[in-house]
Amino acid sequence: MSSYLLAIDQGTTSSRAILFRPDTSPAAMAQQEFPQHFPASGWVEHEAEDLWQTTLATCREAIAKAGATAADIASIGITNQRETTVVWDRRTGTAIYRAIVWQDRRTAELCARLRAEGHEPLVSERTGLILDPYFSGTKISWILDHVPGARARAERGELAFGTVDSWILWKLTGGEVHATDATNAARTLLFNIRTGEWDEDMLALLRVPRSILPEVKDSAAAFGTTKPEFFGGAIAIGGMAGDQQAATVGQACFLPGMIKSTYGTGCFVLLNTGDTPVASSNRLLTTIAYQLAGKRTYALEGSIFVAGAAVQWLRDGLGIIGTSAESEALAETADPAQQIYLVPAFVGLGAPHWNPDVRGALFGLTRATTRAEFALAALESVCYQTSDLLEAMRADWKQASGKAAARATVLRVDGGMAASNLAMQRLSDLLAAPVDRPVVRETTALGAAYLAGFQAGILPAPERFADSWRLDRRFMPSMAPETRTTKLAGWQDAVRRLTMP
Ligand code: G3P
Repeated sequence: MSSYLLAIDQGTTSSRAILFRPDTSPAAMAQQEFPQHFPASGWVEHEAEDLWQTTLATCREAIAKAGATAADIASIGITNQRETTVVWDRRTGTAIYRAIVWQDRRTAELCARLRAEGHEPLVSERTGLILDPYFSGTKISWILDHVPGARARAERGELAFGTVDSWILWKLTGGEVHATDATNAARTLLFNIRTGEWDEDMLALLRVPRSILPEVKDSAAAFGTTKPEFFGGAIAIGGMAGDQQAATVGQACFLPGMIKSTYGTGCFVLLNTGDTPVASSNRLLTTIAYQLAGKRTYALEGSIFVAGAAVQWLRDGLGIIGTSAESEALAETADPAQQIYLVPAFVGLGAPHWNPDVRGALFGLTRATTRAEFALAALESVCYQTSDLLEAMRADWKQASGKAAARATVLRVDGGMAASNLAMQRLSDLLAAPVDRPVVRETTALGAAYLAGFQAGILPAPERFADSWRLDRRFMPSMAPETRTTKLAGWQDAVRRLTMP
């Protein structure tokens, strides 16, 4: 009986494929990195073909490693770096421009102009988002305006737009299916998260022709089947969600008030708010956590653009560590008396500041500062940013639910940096809240596999799936309250100095 589930996780720096057994334990994994392109300051691009070829290669490798065949796989779940924008030719299946990555800031001016014209309230009400270059809508518009002839071709119906999920789905199905799921659609600036439909006013505002948009489906749905030649047989595609939403599912945050935080290139904190889209008073995003059987579950989201990327910068930019894992041992040796603050605004600041123009800074350097304090400052910068988000979230959630829900104070963590005991302990200390790390840390892929397995009828409903979540370690706050207060005040001062006009 076909019982494996194949999760595709197409991320910002690598593509991964994980084959899960029916009990959701991982059977085999493959991963490939691909080049990043930085053609101008603040621009970040990927070759769309690289995203597809590395996805195909890693799927084949994972299937081969497990000794499986297409017939052994019940369903595929796709999860992906969100917002990254691909526009392709429907006839040839080739992208007309490189994929513009979520981190790319080239449309900052357009966003500022739309804000100055007073459009932000409409944008927030319809899409739950804010006017920032982070999202897909202005990136689509940029491609249509800058690739010769693209706008006219789009209007003639010759072009297709997709976030990376749609692009991979199109390729896997040999160009037969142009679809996305509600979580990915919710990141485009074009989707009305209340009605679950593309929004005509947003399309008009961003000058995006409707003909290029994919069909929007549930996160667990019949998305199509793969071309038999890719894996030696057709496989159904049954799950799809943006990577942070898939991690929310993989962390089993199915109840209102539950929060997860994923530490990848960036850090994304999602709070399940149930069937109500909660509008933030603190510059957080309102988004769709998942859509099952036509029913949307919403989330408040805080997005930080640089988390693991700060450690990569220590390794690749400064060369003060050889591997990312070394950062923890080095940070352990830092002088606790020094207060060094790194504000890693390498591509501006995300929530709750939303400032695309500022750039990073280090505060508090002395002659005694060594690379150890740099390493600690990088790890702590992620904790401070998470703390800013949690503060904002607690305030929004308290206002919306009328109570400071107890569950909202426990944070479920995953992603690369969650492996660091030092970083997670510091996180708990600075949040003054418990931090829970699960046994399965591949929560993004697990979430995608779950959606596919649920669609295939081999995994149970969310409430029962939640019973399989297992705690690896709970970190409890142990920092003296006055130390915490001093450290947080120092961080806030550093951010203020950087963002001051
Ligand atoms: O919104 C961007 C996010 O989806 C990227 O995630 O894991 O590739 O850093 P990641």
